[in-house]
Amino acid sequence: MVKNLLITGGAGFIGSNFIRYVLREHLDWEAVNLDKLTYAGNLMNLEDVADNPRYKFVKGDIADPALVDRLFAKETFDAVVNFAAESHVDRSILDVGPFIETNVKGVQVLLEAARKHNLERFLQISTDEVYGSLGEEGVFTEGSRLLPNSPYAASKAAADMLSRAYHKAYGLPIIITRSSNNYGPYQFPEKLISLMIRNALNSKELPIYGEGQQIRDWLYVEDNCRAIDLVLQSGRIGEVYNIGGGCEKKNIDVVKQICSILEKKLEQSAGLSTPVSKLSDLMTFIDDPRGVAHDFRYALNCSKITEELGWKPEYDFEKGLEQTIEWYLENQDLVENVISGEYQAYYKKLYGA
Ligand code: NAD
Ligand code: DAU
Repeated sequence: MVKNLLITGGAGFIGSNFIRYVLREHLDWEAVNLDKLTYAGNLMNLEDVADNPRYKFVKGDIADPALVDRLFAKETFDAVVNFAAESHVDRSILDVGPFIETNVKGVQVLLEAARKHNLERFLQISTDEVYGSLGEEGVFTEGSRLLPNSPYAASKAAADMLSRAYHKAYGLPIIITRSSNNYGPYQFPEKLISLMIRNALNSKELPIYGEGQQIRDWLYVEDNCRAIDLVLQSGRIGEVYNIGGGCEKKNIDVVKQICSILEKKLEQSAGLSTPVSKLSDLMTFIDDPRGVAHDFRYALNCSKITEELGWKPEYDFEKGLEQTIEWYLENQDLVENVISGEYQAYYKKLYGA
């Protein structure tokens, strides 16, 4: 039985949601959160669980073998759930180095430490981006070839391959989950949905790459947490599980929907300097910073996790998006606080002045 978890990258978006989920759903489980606190990791994301006696935070780098070894020697972990990663595609195109350091070397350090201890499970949190891009038709299954297009996707694919090799060569009890695009509370405002909500709330331009025709399959973060929890408890060792939202949308339609929900909500509270009815006027079409590395479409076949573990997404997009927007409206201070000077520099570099 899994009881004492090492959760890495728990101060980020999905990791913080997962820690909250686990502490709420499993009253006899304990979680140690190992996080380097990069620009994307923030302890404010976990303020509500910081005093929970079943939760502990350790600041550190998964790519630091001495620190990871000490932690494994001190604690008795039943399982590792590795969320820690450099996670943003645009940043990987600007600078590949940190993606290799954390997403490849860091994973190898964790796998090596896990090899020396008797773990029940090692969950590597991966992404549908390892499969590459689809055209208008088709879906990825767990057996699809890995054809990553961005440095981020390539680093995640390398981690998947390493995890597989540690299972085959050393019998490490690895399981890999590959999810589609997550959205929800606590997402750093650099990804499409979180960035558009924050910009709209600050009357800033809504930068759409190219013509906004790319398609993503949107998954509410709570649904992903439930899927990961199920895989952790009952998934088969050595297997890969796709986790998709079954919700394909063009980027342009997502941004329009955000504007329309926000306009309705703000009409009631009237808190913006830009007239509420003009939010969609903030949409700006910019040269695509990803160029040919920009994947056109992702879509996942999730029949494996549905048939084996009985999982399917519970949130429809409208409901999930509304809940997300409400969270951003209620937590504007937190969102502004997690943004550092680094964010301003990055924003300027990617989007221009
Ligand atoms: P995030 O960027 O919000 O958080 C990443 C966390 O990892 C941060 O807290 C950061 O401080 C920490 N971290 C980074 N480097 C570290 C290191 N060397 N050592 C320890 N901690 C480190 O990311 P996210 O969106 O929550 O994604 C979590 C995981 O899920 C990633 O592995 C990502 O590849 C995967 N994933 C994300 C999505 C998505 O839509 N966000 C979809 C599929 C898969
Ligand atoms: O598919 C899973 C992946 O989803 C995860 O593995 C990644 O960690 C996560 O970042 C996400 O990658 P994407 O590149 O799909 O997500 P992002 O939110 O950055 O972009 C979604 C789409 O929106 C993409 O087609 C680019 C476009 N976009 C993005 C931003 C930030 C814009 O048009 N404008 C923007 O400002």
